[in-house]
Amino acid sequence: MLDLLANPYHAAFACPTCHGPLSGEPLFCETCERTYLADKGYLDFAPEVRMKPGLGPFFLQDPLHVTRYEEQTRVAFLNIMGANWNDSLTPEREDDYLSAHIVPVDGPVLDLGCGAGRWTRTVVDTVGQARVIGLDLSLAMIDLIRAELPELCVVRANALQLPFGRDSLGAVNCSNALQLFPEPRTVIQEVGRVLKPGGTFTAFTFRQAERPTYRYFQSQHEKTFNVRSFRVDELTTWLTSAGLDLLDLTSLSGTLLFTARKKPS
Ligand SMILES: C[S@@+](CC[C@H](N)C(=O)[O-])C[C@H]1O[C@@H](n2cnc3c(N)ncnc32)[C@H](O)[C@@H]1O
Ligand SMILES: [Zn+2]
Repeated sequence: MLDLLANPYHAAFACPTCHGPLSGEPLFCETCERTYLADKGYLDFAPEVRMKPGLGPFFLQDPLHVTRYEEQTRVAFLNIMGANWNDSLTPEREDDYLSAHIVPVDGPVLDLGCGAGRWTRTVVDTVGQARVIGLDLSLAMIDLIRAELPELCVVRANALQLPFGRDSLGAVNCSNALQLFPEPRTVIQEVGRVLKPGGTFTAFTFRQAERPTYRYFQSQHEKTFNVRSFRVDELTTWLTSAGLDLLDLTSLSGTLLFTARKKPS
């Protein structure tokens, strides 16, 4: 998948900095004259970008930890951030939500912040592997997902500057990552830019706790791990200003699963 032109959806890609067209090997942007290399086995659209500081981002980039992420820390994180102590949300319910709510129009389907690939596989099972692009910033996560799904198109890029043109993707999914991005509002704007009209944006993240005692507990965790939770009204406002209509919002304990759709043109 190094040869982007071999990807049936190569036309969707664009320079993440200026959104100009890309061509050549290595990939070159004729507009801003940046070059993007694939010398590590995958395209790197964010060579100079590092993840924000903090314990959460540290764990997600630590090769020793990432192998335990899906089975262990992800479960503990859902318990604490989403008050999911009674398993209201199980991996299987997440699968069911994605397969019911990802409704792409034509074009590739992005799994944004794909991580080690357990939920990217759900996206693959829903829409077919040939359509899916995994995107992450962590080298350790990219190594894992490439081992897990060797045929998948995976790129390294920054969620705040997506390497796609306007109206180029059929759907976007973002499972358990919005709370980690340094500017989630900007990421939602980016999703609104790159989605084709009618394409869905599915996401799983966390609701800001309302009970003061739980909110205190949750906020201590947010400080420690440099993550955040969301109020439903702020998410709705950001989606609307990105040109996305909220179609569904499902909240099990303190978790939030939502689906929005880009307004038809
Ligand atoms: C908690 S993991 C979620 C992985 C997977 N989607 C899941 O549901 O388990 C969040 C992912 O977002 C990635 N990430 C964090 N900041 C990012 C950024 N600015 N751009 C792209 N990916 C980022 C991390 O590397 C990590 O793999
Ligand atoms: Zn450019």
